[in-house]
Amino acid sequence: MAEIIGGIGTSHVPSIGVALDKGLDQTPVWKPFFDGYDYTKEWIAEHKPDVAVVVFNDHGNAMFLDRVPTFTVGVADRYKPADEGWGPRDIPDFIGAEDMSWHFADKLVENHFDPMIAREITVDHGLQVPMELCFGRPKDCWPVTILPIWVNTVQYPIPTPQRCWDMGKILRDAIESFPGDERVVILGTGGLSHQLQGARAGFLNEAADRDWLSTIARDPDKWRSMRREDYVEKFGSEGAELIMWLVMRGAMNSDVTVKHTHYHLPASMTGAGCIVLENT
Ligand code: DHB
Ligand code: FE
Repeated sequence: MAEIIGGIGTSHVPSIGVALDKGLDQTPVWKPFFDGYDYTKEWIAEHKPDVAVVVFNDHGNAMFLDRVPTFTVGVADRYKPADEGWGPRDIPDFIGAEDMSWHFADKLVENHFDPMIAREITVDHGLQVPMELCFGRPKDCWPVTILPIWVNTVQYPIPTPQRCWDMGKILRDAIESFPGDERVVILGTGGLSHQLQGARAGFLNEAADRDWLSTIARDPDKWRSMRREDYVEKFGSEGAELIMWLVMRGAMNSDVTVKHTHYHLPASMTGAGCIVLENT
């Protein structure tokens, strides 16, 4: 049976990818941010996952407001990186963990979730950036296959935190009932606090971000029982992306060991955070 070897929560700000493309990661502005991922990369190198489940949202690149699936599971054999306007990035295509994706899609439907199933779709910075932060930039191919899960965090109504948590439980069951010996890491992405639009554009909330990072491991109930509106108020309209970390957290044991946390403010307009968890 496949096995969950750990869970990682991380921000997915697009300018992190641009900083890497332009070789700016060791400049004074970016170095403190990137240094916080040294441990995460070492953890990946030591634990050698075969598959990365990446929970993220599309930002108007592969989907737009004409079609807004609440949850989407990718079942493709290959995903091209989306061009978000700066031109195609020099990173390899992502290879899909097709069989595990279908198994997960089937488990979801069996458990009364009804995702969109995508066989042909690009992946934007929501997936690209966390993959680079964890695995570095490979020359030819990524060291893992991917199982992408898109969550609508863009157009209301977004799913409830509890619903994301419940999906995490089914994800765990799907991985642990998958006939294989894959080592699986789950990446929950997005956040932390940011708001890119409207009257509160530029909103950040360092206190809430630090509270999130220090309690998501030991007290996830506090976060999964909160309303969507509370996320928007506390973390900003785009900071509500944090609900996607709950898919990862819900898939882990109730007792987890925190191996690493990192916080940097701001990366672009975002409070940027990372956590590395193992089941205790
Ligand atoms: C920014 C952050 C995001 O999470 C995102 O998806 C887009 C932009 C930002 O801070 O610039
Ligand atoms: Fe985002």
